[in-house]
Amino acid sequence: MISPVLKVSRLTKRFGGFTAVDEVSFEIRPGEILGLLGPNGAGKTTTIQMLLGVVTPTSGSIEAFGLDLSTHREAVLQQVNFSSTYIAMPQSLTVEENLWVVARLYGLNDIVRRVDDVVKKLEMDEFRQKVTRKLSSGQMTRLTLAKAFLTEPRLLFLDEPTASLDPDIAYKIRSLLKEERRSSGLSILYTSHNMREMEEMSDRIIFLQRGRLVAEGTAKAIVARFGKADLEEVFLNFARESSVPLPS
Ligand SMILES: Nc1ncnc2c1ncn2[C@@H]1O[C@H](COP(=O)(O)OP(=O)(O)OP(=O)(O)O)[C@@H](O)[C@H]1O
Ligand SMILES: [Mg+2]
Repeated sequence: MISPVLKVSRLTKRFGGFTAVDEVSFEIRPGEILGLLGPNGAGKTTTIQMLLGVVTPTSGSIEAFGLDLSTHREAVLQQVNFSSTYIAMPQSLTVEENLWVVARLYGLNDIVRRVDDVVKKLEMDEFRQKVTRKLSSGQMTRLTLAKAFLTEPRLLFLDEPTASLDPDIAYKIRSLLKEERRSSGLSILYTSHNMREMEEMSDRIIFLQRGRLVAEGTAKAIVARFGKADLEEVFLNFARESSVPLPS
């Protein structure tokens, strides 16, 4: 049996009396794209933050590349990277300066070549010398993705990587992600609120609702299991179940 790249067991996060992530267990296999799906507030970002060691789990365990994150933090995080809309980068630096800084922080060699490579990969030439403060939100998203690719990670956590991208760039990013996993065996945990994208990208999907894992499988299997027409219908079903009714 091929050992998983990531193994999450009964992961739980409580904020005071509120349970944001509730005994969630799942695995990511080498070269797999796992979709993490769920309504707003379901616990997706909190889960990713625990996987990155940014938020400390209340209980449960996280193992990556066969190593426990809590005891082998540095070794694990060296092989992991992420992108999220919440990444703050120095606003007065240009795009390429920011990437050089990141490359240096990670202690990478051959910084100029690496930055040139990701700039090319993500088609950022047009704005590589723009000051970060002046980027459009789609350009900013591409910068955070470039940062994620810079370290050539084995495992990538992407929290809504195509949010605010135009359809053309979103398509290119999806193609790039699929190509990277094909050529380098990259494994990806992926969140999106675009159900068609989830269906297209994910080898498997895990579905969170109010912090609990409520469905797991291929998009096709999940749709069939819930007797719905497509993933969007399954999503609406869960989202409406989990929303609090408005007072009449
Ligand atoms: N630091 C915190 N303190 C208290 N509650 C928090 C904290 N961080 C997150 N939460 C709560 O945990 C729940 C899960 O939030 P999370 O950001 O993980 O959801 P999400 O699935 O990423 O949602 P979205 O689709 O809106 O991005 C929410 O109810 C949120 O308010
Ligand atoms: Mg989120």
